[in-house]
Amino acid sequence: MNETRTPADQPRPNPGPVLGIESSCDETAVAVLDGAGRILGEAVFTQSAEHARFGGVVPEIAARAHLQRLGGMVRGVLAEAALSPADLSGVAATAGPGLIGGLIVGASFGKGLALGAGLPFLAVNHLEAHALTARLPGLFPHPPAYPYLLILVSGGHCQCVAVEGLGRYRRLGTTLDDAVGEAFDKAAKLLGLPWPGGAHLERLAAQGDARAVKLPRPLLGRVGCDFSFSGLKTAVAQAVGKGFRREDIAASFQQAVAAVLSDRARHAAAMLPEATALVVAGGVAANQAVRAALAEATPLPLLAPPLRLCGDNAVMVAWAGLERLRAGQRDPLGIAPRPRWPLGELSPP
Ligand code: KG4
Ligand code: ZN
Repeated sequence: MNETRTPADQPRPNPGPVLGIESSCDETAVAVLDGAGRILGEAVFTQSAEHARFGGVVPEIAARAHLQRLGGMVRGVLAEAALSPADLSGVAATAGPGLIGGLIVGASFGKGLALGAGLPFLAVNHLEAHALTARLPGLFPHPPAYPYLLILVSGGHCQCVAVEGLGRYRRLGTTLDDAVGEAFDKAAKLLGLPWPGGAHLERLAAQGDARAVKLPRPLLGRVGCDFSFSGLKTAVAQAVGKGFRREDIAASFQQAVAAVLSDRARHAAAMLPEATALVVAGGVAANQAVRAALAEATPLPLLAPPLRLCGDNAVMVAWAGLERLRAGQRDPLGIAPRPRWPLGELSPP
């Protein structure tokens, strides 16, 4: 059962170190930040090798891998930070959205650690953690001021969010079908590339002609900033069937995705004229064509965190926990992980 969150009634401006745990998909990750948000220790274990032969993340395998790794990784990261659990001032773990098995593993571990050491526990929303990463001290000369736009482009999520304050998020648009990383992975598979295929496809595209294959640009110009990629995937399948060069299909696909994302970002900026920046997160942010298109899409500065902080990681979870702890928040140990947990549900009505 979900218990409600405690309101922000006792701000704690100067908490000590916070440990973060991420286990919502196929990255097992642990990090410790000091009270100012400096990284004292971090580790990420990417499970993709364990899922590759199935061509996608297998939830059961993911949950078991999190269980096998997490304890050792928490010990290792605490040792790297030269801290014991008693030195922490909070434990934050991703509690959704994501695969329920992994969420249970990570959140239960976090709760156990918090209970054992008598610390506050913070159940972090994974999307909120991506949204707040750009505010991590030292990442950019000036952290973005609220409100700013987040475009989240990963294997599991594809959405545009107005980040209006801590705990105040408004989803401006989302995908009607596949996430953009999923579209890259499916197109890559049609081109005979290994999973996860995004980076392989980008390398192949570098040798191709982006004008060679006419591909659709789903929802281009449409009001709002929803996304759709399944038509593009079908068009790639047809282009493969017609015998176009693989390099040319890859380049044309990448160009179509970049054009769509840039158009959607432009619409998002129009929906939030007060926005101070466009922040990009998620594994697809690694793609240079996508980055270049987003940088040109709006007059806003494009803030792209370093790749290890764009993909799934625990620094972002610890940071979201620290921000919430500073605001006087904590969650009851009875809080349940949520496989579906829309960002909008964190905001006050
Ligand atoms: O955020 P992320 O690391 O984790 C999950 O969503 O699980 O994103 C992974 C996604 C995959 O779909 C992968 O193919 C895609 O990001 N990706 C890329 C590139 N690198 C990773 N897509 C396009 N170009 C890339 N260079
Ligand atoms: Zn993510």
